[in-house]
Amino acid sequence: MSSLIKLGASNMITADSDEPLHVFDLPQIYMKPTGTELIQTLDLVTIKPRSFASSAHDPAKGRAVDPTGLTRYLTSIIASPLSWLETDELREAIWDAAAARLSERSGRTAMPAMSRVFAIPTSWGEEFTLTLHEPSLTSDNLGMKTWVSSYLLSKRLHSLLDTTPPQLVPSTSTTPTPNRTLKALELGAGTGLVGLSFAALRGKSAKIHLTDLPPIVPNLAHNAALNIELLTKTAATVTTGVLDWSVAPATPPTPEEQYDLILAADPLYSPDHPQLLVDTIAVWLSRGLDARVVLEMPFRDAYLPQIRELRERMMNLGLAVVEEGEETGYDDWETAEGGAVAVRCWWSVWGWSEKLR
Ligand SMILES: C[S@@+](CC[C@H](N)C(=O)[O-])C[C@H]1O[C@@H](n2cnc3c(N)ncnc32)[C@H](O)[C@@H]1O
Repeated sequence: MSSLIKLGASNMITADSDEPLHVFDLPQIYMKPTGTELIQTLDLVTIKPRSFASSAHDPAKGRAVDPTGLTRYLTSIIASPLSWLETDELREAIWDAAAARLSERSGRTAMPAMSRVFAIPTSWGEEFTLTLHEPSLTSDNLGMKTWVSSYLLSKRLHSLLDTTPPQLVPSTSTTPTPNRTLKALELGAGTGLVGLSFAALRGKSAKIHLTDLPPIVPNLAHNAALNIELLTKTAATVTTGVLDWSVAPATPPTPEEQYDLILAADPLYSPDHPQLLVDTIAVWLSRGLDARVVLEMPFRDAYLPQIRELRERMMNLGLAVVEEGEETGYDDWETAEGGAVAVRCWWSVWGWSEKLR
């Protein structure tokens, strides 16, 4: 779509100017703007999903819009019969676009479903892309969205797990050394970004089971299917299923059923979660020499006590940090004011402490 909006005979708004647009610069309904003018305007005021780029500046972003009065402006379009426009289809398209712009300004929870593409680096210098479907987000289904720490962890996996094509032989001291197929489990996988990235990176030298709560798993399975071409090319084995941390397995898993590696991104957002998560890790993590847990989570103010509790519980279980660090990502949705939200995240790799000595 063109980055120019024509306003009457002489007014042109360019998308690249530094000056933020004010609502009075936009075509007003009482002036009966054309359908094209309205569509272009509504495109210009889109709050675009950020690409999780590790910078607050998103070069793909268009011209800033002063949010003052924008909600009223969008409502005026929705409330107008747009009777001067030629077709019902055009009127519908404009009302839909105005409603979508209003939703964006109501926060991510009001956003419609979407598909997003994530670029994941590899240790051999290439990157691959994963396409993930994100249904419309509701407050109790946080796994329908891809959260920033999962993107940071997905980009870090290749260095943590030291993958190399085509044999995909890992060799660091901090990660399992598979002369056999590595069995991995993702807890609270959400849309599956971490687990699917792991599968594509490790290819045939690993099997991964992506798990979450029952309402989340159908979309998780859908996302695995969406990326089947990449997963087939790398010969990765991916399965999905329900694993609720609050439900103990009817019979404890045998050592063969346990996992060499457990992955989890952004798993703590309730006071119960540290205990539930660590108890689940205790059940499912192999007692083998090379067993590892890889975690990444944001330092959200409200959940700092949960992060402390998680650390303590992991250590009480007999696990110790092998490697850890902090990094900053940017939340994928801008605020209505146009600013990216910086999120500080903590990543960590854990192994059995007596076996680390
Ligand atoms: C904030 S989301 C993170 C999703 C994904 N890992 C990401 O970072 O994009 C937390 C995830 O934990 C899952 N979860 C919460 N409680 C759970 C439980 N008791 N058992 C299993 N998964 C749970 C949620 O369904 C959700 O998918």
